[in-house]
Amino acid sequence: MGKIKVMSIFGTRPEAIKMAPVVKALEKDQSIESIVCVTAQHREMLDQVLKLFDIKPHYDLNIMKAGQTLSEITSRALMGLEQVMKEVEPHMVLVHGDTTTTFVGSLAAFYQQVKVGHVEAGLRSHNIYSPYPEEMNRTLTGKLSHLHFCPTKGNRENLLNEGINDEKIAITGNTVIDALLQVVKKDYKFSNEQLNHIDYENKKVILLTAHRRENLGAPMENIFYAMKDIIQNNKDVEIVFPVHLNPKVRNLAYEILGNIERIHLIEPLDYEPFANLMAKAYLILTDSGGIQEEAPSLGKPVLVLRTETERPEAVKAGTVKMAGVEKDEIFSLTHTLINDEKAYKRMANAINPYGDGKTSERIVENIKSFFVTKK
Ligand code: UD1
Ligand code: UDP
Repeated sequence: MGKIKVMSIFGTRPEAIKMAPVVKALEKDQSIESIVCVTAQHREMLDQVLKLFDIKPHYDLNIMKAGQTLSEITSRALMGLEQVMKEVEPHMVLVHGDTTTTFVGSLAAFYQQVKVGHVEAGLRSHNIYSPYPEEMNRTLTGKLSHLHFCPTKGNRENLLNEGINDEKIAITGNTVIDALLQVVKKDYKFSNEQLNHIDYENKKVILLTAHRRENLGAPMENIFYAMKDIIQNNKDVEIVFPVHLNPKVRNLAYEILGNIERIHLIEPLDYEPFANLMAKAYLILTDSGGIQEEAPSLGKPVLVLRTETERPEAVKAGTVKMAGVEKDEIFSLTHTLINDEKAYKRMANAINPYGDGKTSERIVENIKSFFVTKK
């Protein structure tokens, strides 16, 4: 065969961050023709990543609408991808992780009988409603995939337990570390002056993010009220919260945490400043998936604002703790990490269960061997 035509499909911020190094590695390889199709399930939050990594998509379905439902995302992305897939006729489609774009990308490929490579495969919480709908998106994508790129051994075990053939599985690490190593810099200066003015040496800066669908409503209220109490009880704490663009998150965040001294509600940060803010923060509180993987490699303790995680590796290593979504528990765990130096030090260890920065190269090599073996 001539060049292997590989089409990468992604649509949201985390997929773009984690697929950017893969796209770059595909572009470098002479035996591959790399095509990028974005659904643009996210718009601004996606575009900043494309700009940072200088990726110009060949196809942009531009499906984002404010407050879009899961069915809307699914149906519009599926229709759009059918057309693109017919035009491009790729040998393989690459999808990433667990978003609705991921699942729809693999389904659209299946409908055209195109092979699917799943990056960040095999993570499982074993609860289909947590994370919702991501656990099911990732599981279904696994069913539709021909190559599974697992970040860890545990992810491979999960796939083996579901009857997936070991020959289709590769343990590659997570590309998030490839991306992170490119953007975190010593003595980084923010272009946002508000962030430059924070005293990271003498204050305890908590970086907060929250956006999960299953946390919308009461759980998110609990999280925000816990943060309000933390500020009232700890004079040396500042909280920085880059608020996700989802209107349901924004309304609640500004209602409960707006105009409170030492709580900085800011716009979502571009990836480079965000990663550098993680590196400067004292502690991270989040319901994000990607941040649970990045923070351990920066040696930052993380409290996960969820009841379950599909990323148990850093929990086992002791740098990540499940804090749940109840106000008292979140308050108490956070308060302890602020005031008990020993407890803090026990968690603040740099560990790297998710990769060594060379994951993208491994993925490209696996794709090439897959097609060589088939020849
Ligand atoms: C999506 C993914 C989730 C991932 C998250 C990363 C699904 C079902 N959910 O959730 O797995 O963790 O992205 O952030 O695939 N919005 C904007 N501009 C943007 C992005 C979002 O205005 O650039 C607003 C829109 O009103 C949009 C809403 O946020 O309707 C929610 O976006 P959506 O993609 O549906 O869900 P997320 O919560 O972002
Ligand atoms: N992130 C970012 N700016 C922000 C918040 C997060 O660039 O204001 C990055 C973060 O470093 C991680 C990714 O976005 O790489 C995580 O995205 P998100 O939390 O939206 O999604 P999830 O990982 O939960 O799917």
